[in-house]
Amino acid sequence: MTATTATQAADIVAALLFIFSLAGLSRHHTSRAGVVYGIGGMALALAATIIVAGRDTSAGTVALIIVAMVLGGAAGLWRARKVEMTQIPELIAILHSFVGLAAVLIGWNSYNEVESHGSAQTRIAHDLLRIHHTEVSIGIFIGAVTFTGSIIAFLKLSARIKSVPLMLPGKNALNLGALAAFLGLTIWFAISPSLGLVIAITILALALGWHLVASIGGGDMPVVVSMLNSYSGWAAAAAGFLLDNNLLIVTGALVGSSGAYLSYIMCKAMNRSFISVIAGGFGIEAVASSDTEQGEHRETSAEDTAALLENASSVIITPGYGMAVAQAQHPVAELTRTLRERGVEVRFGVHPVAGRLPGHMNVLLAEAKVPYDAVLEMDEINDDFGGTTVVLVIGANDTVNPAATEDPTSPIAGMPVLRVWEAQNVVVFKRSMASGYAGVQNPLFFRENTRMLFGDAKQSVEEILRALTRPDPQPSSTSRPGLRVAKQPTPAG
Ligand code: TAP
Repeated sequence: MTATTATQAADIVAALLFIFSLAGLSRHHTSRAGVVYGIGGMALALAATIIVAGRDTSAGTVALIIVAMVLGGAAGLWRARKVEMTQIPELIAILHSFVGLAAVLIGWNSYNEVESHGSAQTRIAHDLLRIHHTEVSIGIFIGAVTFTGSIIAFLKLSARIKSVPLMLPGKNALNLGALAAFLGLTIWFAISPSLGLVIAITILALALGWHLVASIGGGDMPVVVSMLNSYSGWAAAAAGFLLDNNLLIVTGALVGSSGAYLSYIMCKAMNRSFISVIAGGFGIEAVASSDTEQGEHRETSAEDTAALLENASSVIITPGYGMAVAQAQHPVAELTRTLRERGVEVRFGVHPVAGRLPGHMNVLLAEAKVPYDAVLEMDEINDDFGGTTVVLVIGANDTVNPAATEDPTSPIAGMPVLRVWEAQNVVVFKRSMASGYAGVQNPLFFRENTRMLFGDAKQSVEEILRALTRPDPQPSSTSRPGLRVAKQPTPAG
């Protein structure tokens, strides 16, 4: 077997391992195997690439590659060990920006290689030069859009900048204009390549990436993250063409298409137009959100909530990002066990984008050993709220906001939500009247049947547990537990 055949065989095995990895990661019980396949594929791909590089270049270059890998690997390991579960989406976003930057650098380098050596000393046949220049332009464009788009997504997800959408006048025309300009510049570059055109394409794409993601509101950020995942895959595939690396093309296409499909599924779950989101909120113009006076909210206490739960026949818990922040999943699981032992039916209603990444709540509940059969998806449980005695909204906000179904001017209008307000009693666990991730006021908090239980969710649930397990809990004297009327404070978020 020649060295080339061996490398091609390694590429095919690595590509198969990546496909097994994706298949494994799509189910809870096979996800560990999926990770192992992915690591195996990547190790094989790196080994094959280094062996090929060793054949074509000096030992010094191979040593440089290994030093870069050790430094990058150490930095990645350090970040992965330190990162909190709630910071995973922003970590993913910043990692996508590296893929984008790499694609831009590869494009620049490939242009430079042909310019400085001429096609005779490169792998590219003279009559294929125009195709090569087109690949350079596309690679730089996708990479630069991914780079700035991912940085803006990182800044929004980590709350370093506001998550409200940027609404420049004529924003759709700006995006379409940038695309048309890119097409024109690419044709020009293919016919008559120059450094000036490479710079122009790069700047145009950097600006477009920034504008596309800045124009998308916080509520749609999950879709943006998976869309950037897709872009980073296509950027890698474009780099694969430039580097003549088949494995990079296959891997990039796998990431690109699976990211696009995930974005599509999420858009369907959130009732968003896929085209609109991938085109930076295309077709959505600024609407005046109805920031009307909502009235008064009513507070309750842990003791009163315990009394309410004791007398309930059915309870649904809808967890959200706040449960992850408070790390309340273990006391929540304990509360579930306690109530179930007392004959109360307890189930969970999980919204597809609750938390900050797909499956966030499912992972936390599984970690706390909440039985799988008690955890239902939104569509499975949404019709049951009407017959439920108590709903505990633990650190969720946007995903239980009735404005999504009732207020067409709301920025989250049309997004499917958990219809918790249909239950007899709703208790909302949060620390203040601040709004959720999308920055939208929540009329649920001011409904007749809603009580606010202020405080850290973990502490509140622990207090309820203490009250429930005390020999003789003494509920307060009010017939509707916890009726304390308070004026609506100014929303903080
Ligand atoms: P959010 O709307 O983000 O609301 C979370 C609530 O938790 C906040 O109102 C906050 O209120 C409360 N909270 C925070 N820390 C708390 C603590 N220690 N104890 C008690 N409460 C606490 O949550 P959600 O309903 O899960 O909705 C998710 C949002 O994130 C959606 O807008 C979604 O589009 C977006 N998003 C989702 C994803 C994915 S894929 N899931 C990715 C990115 C963005 P206080 O500050 O008053 O406590």
